[in-house]
Amino acid sequence: MKVGFIGLGGMGLPMARHVLQAGHTVTVYNRTRARADQLKHLNAGVADSPAAAAQGAEVLITMVGDDAALEEIMLGERGALAALPKGAIHVSMSTVSPGLSRWLAERHGAAGQTLVAAPVFGRPDAAEAGKLWIVAAGPGDAIERCRPLLEAMGQGVMYAVPPAELLDVVNGRLFRSPIYENYGKLIAEERYEPAGFKLRYGLKDVRLALEAADEATVPMPLASLMRDRYLSAVARGWGDADWAALARVAAADAGL
Ligand SMILES: NC(=O)c1ccc[n+]([C@@H]2O[C@H](COP(=O)([O-])OP(=O)(O)OC[C@H]3O[C@@H](n4cnc5c(N)ncnc54)[C@H](OP(=O)(O)O)[C@@H]3O)[C@@H](O)[C@H]2O)c1
Repeated sequence: MKVGFIGLGGMGLPMARHVLQAGHTVTVYNRTRARADQLKHLNAGVADSPAAAAQGAEVLITMVGDDAALEEIMLGERGALAALPKGAIHVSMSTVSPGLSRWLAERHGAAGQTLVAAPVFGRPDAAEAGKLWIVAAGPGDAIERCRPLLEAMGQGVMYAVPPAELLDVVNGRLFRSPIYENYGKLIAEERYEPAGFKLRYGLKDVRLALEAADEATVPMPLASLMRDRYLSAVARGWGDADWAALARVAAADAGL
């Protein structure tokens, strides 16, 4: 498959590597070019703009930091959206707001393209191992067309599902996964740098959850508490530490 891949951070770089190793023809773009050059030995094409990565792609995968970054690469100067061919699929894998995803889906629809929103669970080590859990939302036929790519990056692809099945996903797969074990270990060893998942992105995600809940008039008292804890960590200068550094806030509050 002819693939464009934009965003080669802690997550995107190993994900793109898996897509290349699965035998697809991949053109990558990253704002900081040195990271894209790391994939040249796997025969990745290196584009000098998001538009150049999207040109001629059957599937465009994006894995950038947040809403602002996704808007920038899709709609900014030499953005990907205008260059993506009609009939192409955009697999948006960053964790971004539902509002931006809905808006992008409309823009893609108007251009004869399809959006698949496919955020992931798992940290960079899971991305390295091709063991992400991917939750895909969008038209079923588009998801199926992308399945070989998603399966190259993850150990499982789940359709965004009704609440009863989501509960099964959360209880059956995530909480039984090594997530708790890994974070417990990071905290016990106070190993917060370098970050696998930056704390400021944790703040972004809890804000996204709170905004979506606010829109639906759903109180989320624990998420509000988490937001304040993350804010406290960012205020103390720990935004780029791993989000397990939340434990540092607890320690600091306790005078430790
Ligand atoms: N890390 C995790 O454990 C984890 C787990 C699940 C989901 N996620 C989600 O995955 C996404 C990526 O996370 P990450 O940990 O890979 O982040 P990261 O290491 O900070 O990488 C961010 C990527 O976005 C690019 N970027 C940021 N702002 C940009 C802009 N304005 N224009 C163009 N490119 C921009 C960066 O380019 P540069 O290289 O030039 O900075 C880099 O490629 C986030 O949405 C995060 O919430 C992360």
